[in-house]
Amino acid sequence: MSLNLDVAELAATYANKSAQDILKLAFEHFGDDLWISFSGAEDVVLVDMAWKLNKNVKVFSLDTGRLHPETYRFIDQVRDHYKIAIELVSPDHTRLEPFVKEKGLFSFYKDGHGECCGIRKIEPLRRKLSTVSAWATGQRRDQSPGTRSQVSVMEVDGAFSTPERTLYKFNPLAQMSSEEIWGYIRMLELPYNSLHERGFISIGCEPCTRPVLPNQHEREGRWWWEEATQKECGLHAGNLIQKA
Ligand code: ADX
Ligand code: SF4
Repeated sequence: MSLNLDVAELAATYANKSAQDILKLAFEHFGDDLWISFSGAEDVVLVDMAWKLNKNVKVFSLDTGRLHPETYRFIDQVRDHYKIAIELVSPDHTRLEPFVKEKGLFSFYKDGHGECCGIRKIEPLRRKLSTVSAWATGQRRDQSPGTRSQVSVMEVDGAFSTPERTLYKFNPLAQMSSEEIWGYIRMLELPYNSLHERGFISIGCEPCTRPVLPNQHEREGRWWWEEATQKECGLHAGNLIQKA
């Protein structure tokens, strides 16, 4: 594992390189200490590319407890397909249970997704990331004009680094378009989440995700009752920090 990388320089050098080249760079520096975060959607492309470079690739998913049944099935399908152990990270029950007791299962429709995402996604992610040196996500620039148009292929994770420890974050698919992602899935006949056959493009938790209409942006299917431009749940809070 190497520390004190010149991230700005590497990000500039790799800005227009292929997703595979960016993953190679990540494995060169972090080896088996690089973790892929897999949402159970079209970011299966990232798992496929990483697995082809390193059969020991480490993958985790945040099991919010609220994913679609199709997503749970798909996560297991990917596990079987690549013969990899996908680590499922669960919320802390000592925070989750009082929250649900006090506010019920659908409080986010009334007072926003922040609190629920904080408990079901962010705390588990922070806990997971506190044990790793680098992670790679399937974020892409075209996923959200409001928050992801500047996503860099490599960055210091401004949200989850600590004063004692720099956490590196790779976004190898940053420059790929949805069309390229789906071209890759079809061409290589990768498994995909069956929700995509029913109009879902971006897939998160079941109560907070819906299919989109023709020509609607994919992000409009997420937290649709909230303001359109700032739809981030905190996993990629750095996107908002950079904009602020
Ligand atoms: S989100 O922040 O709005 O939920 P999005 O669904 O666009 O994120 O996914 C972007 C990337 O975030 C995914 O490719 C994946 O790397 C990561 N991610 C999102 N949800 C999860 C999850 N439940 N588990 C692990 N990683 C996730
Ligand atoms: Fe809760 Fe919705 Fe956030 Fe999932 S996306 S953690 S259900 S608010």
